Amino acid sequence: MTTVLLTGGAGFIGSHTCLVLLEAGHRVVVIDDFSNGSPEALRRVSELARLGSWRQLAPEQWAAGEGQPARLTLLKGDVRSPQDLDRAFEDGGGGDSGIDAVLHFAGLKAVGESMGQPLRYWDVNVVGAVRLLEAMGRHGCQTLVFSSSATLYGITDRVPIPETAPLQPINPYGYTKAAVERMLADVAASTPGWRIALLRYFNPVGAHPSGRIGEDPNGRPNNLFPFLCQVAAGRRQQLEVFGGDWPTPDGTGVRDYLHVMDLAEGHGRALEVLQAEPPQLLTLNLGSGCGHSVLDLVRSFEATNGLTLPYAVVDRRPGDSAISVADHREAERRMGWRTKRSLADICRDGWAWQSANPEGYRGSDRQPGRSLIQAQPVS
Ligand code: WQD
Repeated sequence: MTTVLLTGGAGFIGSHTCLVLLEAGHRVVVIDDFSNGSPEALRRVSELARLGSWRQLAPEQWAAGEGQPARLTLLKGDVRSPQDLDRAFEDGGGGDSGIDAVLHFAGLKAVGESMGQPLRYWDVNVVGAVRLLEAMGRHGCQTLVFSSSATLYGITDRVPIPETAPLQPINPYGYTKAAVERMLADVAASTPGWRIALLRYFNPVGAHPSGRIGEDPNGRPNNLFPFLCQVAAGRRQQLEVFGGDWPTPDGTGVRDYLHVMDLAEGHGRALEVLQAEPPQLLTLNLGSGCGHSVLDLVRSFEATNGLTLPYAVVDRRPGDSAISVADHREAERRMGWRTKRSLADICRDGWAWQSANPEGYRGSDRQPGRSLIQAQPVS
């Protein structure tokens, strides 16, 4: 059994990947500061994975699953804190093997926000990665999957975009992702033994089909799909379509939307490939290879869920590009991975989550253990 540390594992991609890893038989330790994730998400993941109840190990440390060590351990902590990271590797790693691999999701990811708060993005995304790499070195762990982004490619007319395309980020968020990729390449080149996968996500959307976990952005969603779901749920008046005059078939922006469960499974495959093969630095696009416009998504959502979405076409959003679609062939060649779920699956599952959880996790934001059973401190 492999023990995997997920930084930011209580967030959207992290919680879905946590479930996939638990179902594959791994032990999972999560460190999260809950700035954009919820303990409730992981409580529900433990239910979906049928781990049983939570128990408290120490202040802000919870574990689910019978016996020692627990199958899922949650620690509240900050990746910029060496003490918090050491606690995750030591306490959370409980088993003989400690932590065998790390999936690094923790980070800030709002393009617009990064324009106004560049230093915060450099601190959390880059300093956080430096601290994590230092902690991995202290604990002898050299297997890492990094949550990177297609935003690195910036505005390009390449369709589809291969991994070899030039990196030309256009905002602080994108620059921090490029900086961490560069740092990981330097670490891999300087020290033998590192197994690193850089996974460049295109547009992850949707939710687990159970409707129990999904995307729960803080405040007004920056991204299309969660905003569209909130319009459908009546939390937002109408969808603003940013530009109707793009050089695309219907004039609206085209993106490569992939189901979050496909993305989560891609992480599981990347981990398997890293563990099975010699040390390497693997860079892969994770996308469907298919482009859909804003209006394609609106119409698919309406047809799949039998509802009408009010929208208005407004001016373009600064920094946007017309088309962003992945050349996904390398991920298929190296991992045998490709997306399996359709746009209709995305719309059905996203609505199952939003309609069952109109206020996201806030509607039932319960600390693990405190709501299920009286937390029993471990004797
Ligand atoms: C998609 C399309 C918009 C909102 C972002 C960032 C980055 C990455 C993926 C992590 C575009 C249009 C959007 C709205 C709209 N994630 N749109 N009305 O900009 O492709 O990528 O998410 O790395 O965060 O790069 O995603 O969902 O914001 O936009 O019309 O209210 O929807 O113009 O064409 P984007 P998005």
